[in-house]
Amino acid sequence: MKSFLLAPSILSADFSKLGEDIQKSIDAGGDMIHFDVMDNHYVDNLTIGPMVLKSLRDYKISTTIDVHLMTNPVDSLIPKFAKSGADFITVHPETTNHIDRTLRMIKDHGCKAGLGLNPGTPINYLDYVIDQLDMITVMSVNPGFGGQAFIPESINKIREVRKRINESSSNILLQVDGGINIKNISDIALAGANVFVIGSTLFHSSNYKIVINKLRQELEKVHFNLIH
Ligand code: DX5
Ligand code: ZN
Repeated sequence: MKSFLLAPSILSADFSKLGEDIQKSIDAGGDMIHFDVMDNHYVDNLTIGPMVLKSLRDYKISTTIDVHLMTNPVDSLIPKFAKSGADFITVHPETTNHIDRTLRMIKDHGCKAGLGLNPGTPINYLDYVIDQLDMITVMSVNPGFGGQAFIPESINKIREVRKRINESSSNILLQVDGGINIKNISDIALAGANVFVIGSTLFHSSNYKIVINKLRQELEKVHFNLIH
């Protein structure tokens, strides 16, 4: 398995030709697809639901898909997204009264479970549920929109979460979501992240392959430094 995974966020893709645009991002070297679901309640934006996920699976997008649920309530959507083809389902602790039950529900529906931590959300939400997690997402912007600037304080939080994962001696993935670009990806990797959501940096460029290659070059430097 690759040490670092790039996850194109389709929030910034061209919705008029979503399947095609996603396939282009995979052909250019994207490792997993990040599918942002926003409800105009938990966040001030409204995006796509399970029917769109199902259409993408029917279009033969077979890559791993992480469904990032920014909705409140959240539980009733879990079975629908699982049935429509989600591999990972990521939820935010503020969107459920019973985070343990919500994470178990994700697993019971055959998906991997992810927890997303907003810039202002404390990491002690991990205390009693870390064993149930397959991925932790550190939000490096406040959720709701693509194209926002990376919040620099997120670096410390990534380090803290990395420490918690290492202490738990598990293989939980550490994903970072928001404002990642060619200039900051190496610092984010050095802090301990291994999955990088790439939205506007990728989809607002004219050549996805060039962008992905540049991001990988930055990550290779980090990998080299980490093993030497
Ligand atoms: C923000 C979303 C992100 C967003 C990232 O709420 O969760 O996944 O698409 O987009 P960029 O990479 O443009 O910050
Ligand atoms: Zn997201």
